[in-house]
Amino acid sequence: MLILGIESSCDETAAAVVQDGKRVLSNVIASQVKVHGKYGGVVPEIASRKHTEAIIPVILQSLEDAAVDLGDIEGIAVTRGPGLIGSLLVGLSTAKAIAFARGLPMVGVNHLEGHIAAALLLAAPPSFPFVALVVSGGHTNIYLFRDFQDCTCLGQTRDDAAGEAFDKAAKLLEIGYPGGVVIDSMAKLGDPRVVAFPRAMRDSLDFSFSGVKTSLLNMVKKQGRLFTEAELPNVVAGFQEAIVDVLVQKTLKAAENSAIKRVVVCGGVAANSRLRERFYQDGKEKGMEVFIPPPVLCTDNAAMIAVVGEQLLTRGKRDSLALNAVSRWPLELQS
Ligand code: KG4
Ligand code: ZN
Repeated sequence: MLILGIESSCDETAAAVVQDGKRVLSNVIASQVKVHGKYGGVVPEIASRKHTEAIIPVILQSLEDAAVDLGDIEGIAVTRGPGLIGSLLVGLSTAKAIAFARGLPMVGVNHLEGHIAAALLLAAPPSFPFVALVVSGGHTNIYLFRDFQDCTCLGQTRDDAAGEAFDKAAKLLEIGYPGGVVIDSMAKLGDPRVVAFPRAMRDSLDFSFSGVKTSLLNMVKKQGRLFTEAELPNVVAGFQEAIVDVLVQKTLKAAENSAIKRVVVCGGVAANSRLRERFYQDGKEKGMEVFIPPPVLCTDNAAMIAVVGEQLLTRGKRDSLALNAVSRWPLELQS
């Protein structure tokens, strides 16, 4: 099946054409990073307006890159939630319009399931069941994933998401946006052992990242100034290590507890080079197979949405034109 995927849940407008849930023929992503950068975070109202401007050109580009036209497309997969409601509505309305005009089947996709499905685009994809860590700007969840639309949440954050902690820390340190990307590259120049940060909730599979963020804030307050350029690399390396440590330990623990040897790591923060390195290293030591999509398929994209769409449409699922967007949509409650 040739599926057109559409994603607009946050600040990336994306469209992709994927064949048989495996071959990515195109993957177009229009980022709004520059627009939101000056505010240090995504401004929902601006995000929806920018989606409105970008959505049609992005879809046309995805068809052109795939060397197909709308007449070749056999189904449409669109992110229905969770996400910013105004942003989601732009993608969803566009998907509905195309489905109606072309008489195509359309299906709404859970963004988190999309992130997990990105791992199925790997040359050697994981088989079911597996444990999946979805770690992004909005979520930090561990799932036991048995099949599409069949999972159990084993752990989640009680406060900030890991990506949110990176973004807030970078804002506090005044080092740029988006925080995760800036901290990832700056941390490479530092030593994570110099500045110590706390690891919270050691005995649980749930996460809490507010403590590590407060600890950074207290350091700045105590010294009454921001860190110098010379101090920053060690500070961000220590901060990153504290977050990476708990993500790796809890996910591998969840897999061990479930007697599962396959672990998928996905979502924007899975683009982090230290997190990838630690997962491969620690996973190997514990005899686990670790599957992490390439960075471009970790951050928001529409190819991952098309992969889920292929599965759902093949299984006969169809959504009507009455489908609405949802800002909250727990993955385990969707079937
Ligand atoms: O999945 P995503 O693109 O959007 C959401 O669904 O939230 O994730 C965005 C998050 C942001 O918080 C961003 O700072 C983080 O992913 N991120 C990273 C890296 N690249 C993106 N965090 C750490 N290291 C990175 N290299
Ligand atoms: Zn995402």
